[in-house]
Amino acid sequence: MIKIILIFTFFSLLLLALMSADTLDSRLGLYSYNDFETPKYCGTSCHNDFYRQWEQSMMAQAYTHHWDEIEYFDLAVPHAEKDPLVAEVKAGCNGCHAPMAYLAGKIPPPRPEMNDRANESVSCEICHSIVGFEGDTPFNFNYIMKPGKTKFSSRGSGVKSPNHNIEVNPLMKTGDFCGICHNEKSPFGVWVKSTHLEWKEGPYYKEGVQCQDCHMPKGRSLTAAMGNIYDNARQHLFHGAHDPGKVKGTIELRIHPDIREAEPGETVLFTIALYNQKTGHKFPTGSVEDRMVWMTVEAVDESGKKYQLKVNKKGFEGEEYTISSNVLAYQDMGIAKNIPDFKGVQRDGIPEGNRIFRMPYFDPQGRMTIQQWNTAKLGVDYRIGPRETKIEKCSFNIPINAAPGKMRVTASLYYQKLVKPVADFLNVPLEESEPILVNQHSTEITILK
Ligand code: HEC
Ligand code: HEC
Ligand code: HEC
Ligand code: HEC
Repeated sequence: MIKIILIFTFFSLLLLALMSADTLDSRLGLYSYNDFETPKYCGTSCHNDFYRQWEQSMMAQAYTHHWDEIEYFDLAVPHAEKDPLVAEVKAGCNGCHAPMAYLAGKIPPPRPEMNDRANESVSCEICHSIVGFEGDTPFNFNYIMKPGKTKFSSRGSGVKSPNHNIEVNPLMKTGDFCGICHNEKSPFGVWVKSTHLEWKEGPYYKEGVQCQDCHMPKGRSLTAAMGNIYDNARQHLFHGAHDPGKVKGTIELRIHPDIREAEPGETVLFTIALYNQKTGHKFPTGSVEDRMVWMTVEAVDESGKKYQLKVNKKGFEGEEYTISSNVLAYQDMGIAKNIPDFKGVQRDGIPEGNRIFRMPYFDPQGRMTIQQWNTAKLGVDYRIGPRETKIEKCSFNIPINAAPGKMRVTASLYYQKLVKPVADFLNVPLEESEPILVNQHSTEITILK
């Protein structure tokens, strides 16, 4: 009898162990830091150029960057500890932002100021140890890693290194490689980051243009101190939203009136075409929950007096989220911040009546959120797709006291990495919420006496 009970307990324990292994990622703790070289080692011994380029990119700061530290430690970790529905993100954020700490099972990793190797973020060794991804779609750090003496890259035949072996991994030539971390599904099964999927649906993928072509452009350079000079060496720039030069000019604007001359009291209809000439995915992409892209239209009359124009409504479902207004949102930050019945902060933080090109994220209670891990539903997608042109209209009733003469009307498109009221609430340094002028264009009408 005792034997039977023992056997029974043994099998139940085994079953339990198997079940928890299934829900907990078996890669946690699979490797140790010693299995990976430091970027400094790769960079100072041989790959100086790539190292110095990478060092300036956001992927080198994915764990240490101030806003990442604030969002992870002040919002995600406390939230994950309180709410079992999102508990997985305490470890999960690190799968993309500090992959080495994730694989070493160091959860949460020590704060950036502790100088732990988690600070290496998305390092040379992380990318160059990836051999593939699980399943059909790259997302949620489903990389398959093989750290060791062999580095995986895209250049084949005849390339030799005195330090390590090189094996060709064709995946590294494609955008699918990037999708491993640039697509993300929330614990509620919602695509909260879909840069790779957007690219795959768009025109560039069909033409064979990869992420690498725009973010790792080819140039003539050495790829290693002891190697050859190549005409098509992949520059490790990885420049994106944190490079104003990359963001500027992304959208071209053209504005025109329906009539060139108007009397005070008359209505002039201005039409603005916004053409996305530059991104291979939608604009904005990536951390869409944080980003603000908005158009403002301003008129200046002959006497210098300024008038703010409001965008005309189109009448589509969910449009209220795409026109700036005086409302509160982001109440779910109160969970992590321990503020019961938190009223939220201003949703937009810009003057009212401007068009916002965005896709709102909603928490399980249906409130707008910037916490992508707490996203249960997405709203209307009013971003500007690759090579898409959006047409906006502003009806302007010329004020009775407008000065006669020339009136100049300017449409400007601004970009902001983080909604300003959220940045202020969380004490995120100003640079994250500074507006960048993407582009602008002006037209002129004459106001008659
Ligand atoms: C985000 C991932 C990523 C990181 C981080 C990264 N690389 Fe790369 N690297 C790539 C990809 C992808 C390619 C191949 C691109 C292609 O051929 O289309 C590549 C190519 C290379 C090549 C071959 C270039 C050529 O043209 O032959 C070298 C050498 C290299 N990387 C070294 C490094 C070093 C050193 C670091 C760290 C300082 C580093 N990489 C960081 C993704 C990465
Ligand atoms: C191992 C995960 C991982 C892989 C693989 C990866 N990335 Fe990233 N990437 C990240 C993370 C995490 C960030 C966010 C950095 C931060 O915290 O701001 C990032 C940021 C970026 C940015 C900067 C965005 C900005 O805000 O300025 C660009 C551009 C980028 N990645 C391009 C690529 C490209 C192109 C590839 C494929 C060649 C790639 N990444 C592969 C994890 C990855
Ligand atoms: C045709 C060129 C082009 C291609 C192809 C392209 N990008 Fe971009 N990407 C841009 C430009 C321009 C920007 C800057 C404007 C912006 O932020 O969207 C950008 C921005 C980004 C950003 C920063 C977005 C943000 O708001 O933080 C990331 C991350 C990124 N790209 C990753 C990728 C990945 C991954 C792929 C492939 C799946 C890819 N890009 C393909 C041109 C391109
Ligand atoms: C599947 C990979 C992945 C996971 C998981 C992930 N991130 Fe990210 N994260 C990224 C990438 C890629 C970017 C850059 C996208 C962009 O540039 O817009 C990013 C951007 C960010 C940014 C914005 C930085 C900026 O440029 O403004 C913050 C903050 C951030 N992540 C925090 C987190 C937190 C906290 C978690 C866990 C709740 C998390 N991330 C989970 C891949 C991931």
